Amino acid sequence: MFNLILFGPPGSGKGTQSERLIARYGLKHLSTGDILRSEIANQTRLGMEAKTLMDRGELVPDEVVIGMIRSALDNNPEAKGFLFDGFPRTKAQSVALDTLLSEKGEGINVVLALEVTEEELIKRLLNRGLTSGRTDDVNESVIRARIAEYHKKTSSVADHYREFDKVVGVKGEGTVDEIFDALCEEIEKRKVA
Ligand code: AP5
Ligand code: MG
Repeated sequence: MFNLILFGPPGSGKGTQSERLIARYGLKHLSTGDILRSEIANQTRLGMEAKTLMDRGELVPDEVVIGMIRSALDNNPEAKGFLFDGFPRTKAQSVALDTLLSEKGEGINVVLALEVTEEELIKRLLNRGLTSGRTDDVNESVIRARIAEYHKKTSSVADHYREFDKVVGVKGEGTVDEIFDALCEEIEKRKVA
C-alpha cells in the first residue's frame, strides 16, 4: 500500500490536488470534510451536529472523525492505498490513524504539506464562497477562525510526523499543474525508495 497525507491549511489546494493524485496513483480519496458535508446533505444527526461547529470554523470532535475513517478503512479492503485529505487534524487523530493502519500492517508513507500564505488562502476561499455554497467560505471572520484553528490544533500533526521524518513541504502557490508536478516528484521518490 501507499498511504499519503495531503496536509495544509484551509484553501491550500488539498481537494484540488487530491482529485489529480488519486487519478494518477489509483489511491482511495478520504476527505473528512467531504464525508461531513455529505452527512449534512443527507440531514443525518451526525451531520446536523457537525454543521453547527463547521459553520463556526471549529473542528468536530476527534471521536466522530476517527470513527468515520475507521469505517472507511474497513469498507475498502482492496484499496492500493489511501490519500487522506483534511485528516488527521489533531495530534490525537494522528495517533489514532497510525494505530488503525498498523493494525492492518500498514503506515503512512509520506506527508506532503502544501505551503500557502495566509493572504492567498483568504483570497481563494472568499472567491470560492461566491459560488461553492459552502457556508464556511462566505464570511471572512469564519475563514479566519478556520485558519486560527489550524494553527492552534492542526499544525501539531506535522510535528508528529516530523518525528518520523515523513513530512515534505511543497510550495502550494503557482499553477495547479506546477504544484501537481512538485507533489508527484516527491511521491515518485518515496515510491521507489
Ligand atoms: P475541509 O473540508 O477539510 O476544509 P478545509 O481544510 O478548511 O479546506 P478546504 O477544503 O476549504 O480547502 P482545500 O485545501 O481542500 O483547498 P481546495 O482545493 O478546495 O473541512 C471543513 C470543516 O469540516 C472543518 O472546518 C471542520 O469543521 C470539519 N472537519 C473536516 N475534517 C475534520 C477533521 N479531521 N477533524 C475535525 N473537524 C474536521 O482549494 C480552495 C480554493 O482555491 C478553490 O476554489 C480552488 O479552486 C482554489 N485553488 C486551488 N489551487 C489553486 C491554485 N494553485 N491557485 C489558485 N487557486 C487555487
Ligand atoms: Mg478540501
